Amino acid sequence: MLKNEINENLFFISTPLDFEKLAMAEFREKFQNYFAKAPPKTILDTGGFSFSAPLLEGLALNHLLKIPNRILLRIANFKCRDYPKLYNKICKIRWVDFITNNNIHANISATSSRLMHTKKIEKALLEGIACYFKANPPSKKAQAQTQAAGQQEIFVRIHNDDCTISINSSGENLHKRFYRQFTAEAPIRENLAAGLIYKLLSPLDKSQHYNFIDPMCGSGTSICEALFFCEINDKRPFAYRGLPIVSDKNISLANECCLAFSFSSLHGTDIQKKTVECAIKNFSLLNADGRFQNVTFQKEDLFAVNMTPPISGHNIVFVNPPYNERLQVNESNLQNYFDSIVKTVIEKFHPQRAAIIFPAEYQLPPVINYLHEKLRFKNGGIKTICHFLTMKN
Ligand SMILES: C[S@@+](CC[C@H](N)C(=O)[O-])C[C@H]1O[C@@H](n2cnc3c(N)ncnc32)[C@H](O)[C@@H]1O
Repeated sequence: MLKNEINENLFFISTPLDFEKLAMAEFREKFQNYFAKAPPKTILDTGGFSFSAPLLEGLALNHLLKIPNRILLRIANFKCRDYPKLYNKICKIRWVDFITNNNIHANISATSSRLMHTKKIEKALLEGIACYFKANPPSKKAQAQTQAAGQQEIFVRIHNDDCTISINSSGENLHKRFYRQFTAEAPIRENLAAGLIYKLLSPLDKSQHYNFIDPMCGSGTSICEALFFCEINDKRPFAYRGLPIVSDKNISLANECCLAFSFSSLHGTDIQKKTVECAIKNFSLLNADGRFQNVTFQKEDLFAVNMTPPISGHNIVFVNPPYNERLQVNESNLQNYFDSIVKTVIEKFHPQRAAIIFPAEYQLPPVINYLHEKLRFKNGGIKTICHFLTMKN
């Protein structure tokens, strides 16, 4: 296993593209809060960042972080230009720490290298692992543990003849929470919503109380992610529990990993009744113990004149409208449609801060009394911009 000079393990946190810095900020804040010590140094890369930490701390981050895709535990790194050397290097890895047989899913990629044939790389991996276990048969205890945990995912990345082998400690991608069982049309991924909400809320004063409003809430993702951000996720399986190296070591999990926002209320509305029903069902899974109060979901049209009167107090608004791609819009001029969303949100809610996602080609006109900041990203494969509007003092 790869270790630094003080015997800590190396990890790579994979994030959605364009969310690397936000995910790193989340990592620093939660690491500091949760482990009550300075976070480790991070090295930023495209699609994620790496750091060193004690094994159980790095693995515990699976339960804490809401923006990443997955957390990889680095196993080996070496230069390699031919298949026999790759096989020999793989034979020498201490596989008994991670798996007990060839029940793995290989995730292979190779770029700008002499080894480019992914099928041949996978063959070298499987044969190398088999050669290791022939010489080092696993204990019965390790076998029982890995059998219960099922298949493990091994990542092999070869770039510029530099080969890195990692194990996916998360298992299923981390955007899969436990609560979103009911999906409406074109939902935003949970980890993208978490990242945007983190950016939306971070500059706000946590001693103030805010209403969180999503007037096109779909299946309730933004409301659930706003509430879930500082919670520990222990309600889904994580692959690291099946690693023999973790064995029966206990990762103790507290209730929260950062200072949660205290919302006065959270409101989700959507024009479709069945969508609102999905949001209510998802929220009730998240709130099985009934600890989140003042959350409402209602069927409403954002543009209806008789929409429930705007909520008084400090409002924070999140909007992910249809873009006429996955979800159609009944308006021939999209620019006018998006303009009317901005106008309606500002006039109805007077938000302190708002995050509104539009297709990248849409030009947001200046909004009087608001500062404007942008984050470009891909939402379900569509190039979009999240526009952050902040009320001027
Ligand atoms: C792209 S989806 C986003 C859903 C949500 N953000 C999510 O991730 O689950 C847009 C949502 O806007 C809703 N919608 C469309 N027009 C609306 C309107 N005039 N008022 C309220 N909701 C509307 C649709 O029913 C749909 O659920």
